[in-house]
Amino acid sequence: MTEFARPPGTVDVLPEQASVWQWVEAKAREVFDLYHYREMRTPIFEHTAVFERGVGDTTDIVQKEMYTFTDRGGRSLTLRPEGTAGVVRAFVEGKLHGGTLPGKYFYLGPMFRYEKKQAGRYRQFNQYGVEVIGSDDPRADAEVIELANRFLQVLGVEHYRLELNSVGCPQCRAVHKALLLEHLLPIKAELCQDCQGRFDKNPMRILDCKIDGKHPLVLSAPKITDHLCVDCAAHFEEVKGHLDALHVQYELTPTMVRGLDYYTRTAFEFIGTELGAQSTIIGGGRYNGLVSMLGGPDLQGVGFAGGLERLLLTFDQAIMAELAVDKLDVFVITMGEAAAMLSVFVLQLLRSHGFRADGDYAGRGFKAQLKLADRYLAPAALIIGDDEVAQHAVMLRDMTSKEQQLVAIDELISALRKYK
Ligand code: HAM
Repeated sequence: MTEFARPPGTVDVLPEQASVWQWVEAKAREVFDLYHYREMRTPIFEHTAVFERGVGDTTDIVQKEMYTFTDRGGRSLTLRPEGTAGVVRAFVEGKLHGGTLPGKYFYLGPMFRYEKKQAGRYRQFNQYGVEVIGSDDPRADAEVIELANRFLQVLGVEHYRLELNSVGCPQCRAVHKALLLEHLLPIKAELCQDCQGRFDKNPMRILDCKIDGKHPLVLSAPKITDHLCVDCAAHFEEVKGHLDALHVQYELTPTMVRGLDYYTRTAFEFIGTELGAQSTIIGGGRYNGLVSMLGGPDLQGVGFAGGLERLLLTFDQAIMAELAVDKLDVFVITMGEAAAMLSVFVLQLLRSHGFRADGDYAGRGFKAQLKLADRYLAPAALIIGDDEVAQHAVMLRDMTSKEQQLVAIDELISALRKYK
């Protein structure tokens, strides 16, 4: 690796892939807009405390994965590892709680986590996400889940399943935690290092640990959904009822806990069933304490985020190739210096009328330029030589029929209409 290679865990999105990204981003904006979510753009870095408080200081993200640095003013700043805490911070700081509630927001952009890199897991990755802030209505939970499902369907993603759980509220969690600690105490010393740390602070996370999650005593551990308080149980029943009515299929997964501390009640993950180890395409849930934790009023929220890179891993290669096609409306072929000069004007004329057009800037011969026109799948080419320059005209070549006709530059745009 040279000092000029890109840092581990990052990707370059080269133009071919960028067109696929643009398509996915455009679809995300389109679908989120249909559900009346509006875009929010927050800084890429925040005061470190936003994530320590928001995401939670017992999480892997805060303990091991943040890109934290001190700026020249002595502030501790962190590149955002996720979008929710920043959106909630902006909601509170912008006093959006004074407006119509719930606020419905979406965002798209890069996130940063110092994770062990592997396929589908990067150190800079891009998330699309939505947040509904200011409602505890189970219909809001069902809406974001159905929205995530709709988005995957619009993109043509086929092989996935939805895992659903309720992680309760601090009240039911306290009851469950006591039972869990009692149940797991006999194997405390056998647990992995991470789970030893989680034991006192957040033992529920032991349930979805990749290493300890398969231990018979962990598998037989008390389930949070058997210990929900009356309100949380009723909320969960309603969420499930709405999803049933919307024909969104889900699997109840009591061991699914999510890796961020702010979740209360609904938690869900969309899992790509044909992906490898990093198979969660979208994760989300409800976070009823987060707004007040970040200095705002006592408002509830629910949302999700998905990784764009991981989503693209579910795409069919043929679809990717189709989206990557780089097609021109018109290609301008020139022979000689006078023609090259005239092409500058002709290209401006074409582009100002909305034709996607390009020409040759590398001194290629006629045949090579014709090949380029074919490569860019241009339905029409304009050939300009000395004769055409003298007549202030161009030779319009239909690239399919190969027929050619001389067209005066003044009439060029109307002659090209049928090629657009
Ligand atoms: P999360 O589960 O940490 O949740 O991340 C959401 C999604 O981002 C994951 O399911 C995955 O697709 C993608 N992702 C996470 N880490 C990486 C990585 N290192 N490389 C590639 N993709 C990754 C959140 O971030 C919450 N803020 C979601 C949320 C919004 N909950 C409520 N509102």
